[in-house]
Amino acid sequence: MPGLLLNVHRIHVWCTELLERLNGTFVFEGPWFSKMTMVLTSDPANIRYIMSSNFKNFPKGPEFKKIFDILGDGIFNSDMDLWEKQRTIAQGFIKHQLFHTYLLRTIRAKVEEGLVPVIEHAVEQGLVVNLEDIFQRHVRPASFIKLQKWLNIGQERKYNKAWAVLDDIIATYICQKRKQVNELNHEDGVDLLTSYITEEKSSGLKCDDKFLKDTILNMMVAGRDTTSSALTWFIWLVSMHPMVENNIIQELESKIPAEKTKRRWLFKVEEVKDLVYISTCSIVRGSKVVSTCSFQPQGTSQTRLASEWAYGSSEPERWINERGGIKHEPSYKFPCFGTGPRICLGKEMAFVQMKAVVSAIVYNYRIHVLEETPVVPAISVILHTKNGLMAKISTRWD
Ligand code: HEM
Repeated sequence: MPGLLLNVHRIHVWCTELLERLNGTFVFEGPWFSKMTMVLTSDPANIRYIMSSNFKNFPKGPEFKKIFDILGDGIFNSDMDLWEKQRTIAQGFIKHQLFHTYLLRTIRAKVEEGLVPVIEHAVEQGLVVNLEDIFQRHVRPASFIKLQKWLNIGQERKYNKAWAVLDDIIATYICQKRKQVNELNHEDGVDLLTSYITEEKSSGLKCDDKFLKDTILNMMVAGRDTTSSALTWFIWLVSMHPMVENNIIQELESKIPAEKTKRRWLFKVEEVKDLVYISTCSIVRGSKVVSTCSFQPQGTSQTRLASEWAYGSSEPERWINERGGIKHEPSYKFPCFGTGPRICLGKEMAFVQMKAVVSAIVYNYRIHVLEETPVVPAISVILHTKNGLMAKISTRWD
């Protein structure tokens, strides 16, 4: 306990060091009144045992639900039958071809009409901007940012206010969606909410408004903050490693007709989604800390273990195999997207989104991170930065 208090400002590094010293597993005893005992582990064999082979014996449990009560009965917060039914629906919808088409269209519009104009404005005005903030704004509505701020710093009054705003927006949205589904008599949903509403009978889930609200919020928490946080660390790392930046540019250039290179270019999502080098750079070092009450499969620490992954090394090449493809590692060894039956449902989606954003930014702009604002992790469930990613931006091609 004293160790924890002394190291709270560098908790991720401290956990990693401790886990390395203690061969990957230790038991954390809270003070007697807290009745808290936690097992922290980054040992792949334990992770596999807990998250995969004996998954049924390690539900997230009621304590987890209490901590994340705002997520209600959504997928992230539920266990057993309720979780399984939701996972089946969400999985079906995410794999649906129509959703895929919709996703590519939306990503392109978000990059071209949302992100790029903001970046252009910052360039023209010579502004210092917080890139983390920009990424967050372009993947979620403003009302949600208020809620996320609470998730980071925990202030009851702020939370209640943010919650009321969000509640209102989501309620209106659900009402519109129900009307739409009735009018169009959808057989097959292409968005998650439609899928839940239309499959209510066959799935056996009780899809009342409260449940649908939980579902929307769960998807926002699961998919949006994680992606914007991964993007933030990605751009920061690239800005620190000019060789990697160069390699990314070269790989992107291979997709452009020779006479059109060395000038502004916005890539189609289809052009970048299968690029190998850029994928290996996007392999996130645990942008989400997975936590259960009695067990803490330490995703962040595990993906940082120096012995295992040469942490600190900046070579994305270590993820490329001899055939020039991506080298795959078992997810229980590198669980930044989780592992086992609860492995992230949005992994592919996150990679596509990230590549679309990275290609637009890295190819067209230079990012000058402000030295006086250190980029360090915050203490939060999702690995946000403490001070943001403060940077000036200039265009790469004149
Ligand atoms: C870089 C981005 C992302 C990272 C690092 C990430 C990471 C994770 C991790 C570690 C888990 C496991 C959580 C647990 O065991 O409790 C998870 C679960 C989940 N993720 Fe992601 N995620 C990302 C993006 C996305 C996106 C874009 C979506 C799309 C909606 C998404 C949807 C989900 C869902 C629905 C779950 C719950 C799965 C279940 O409990 O069965 N994630 N994610």
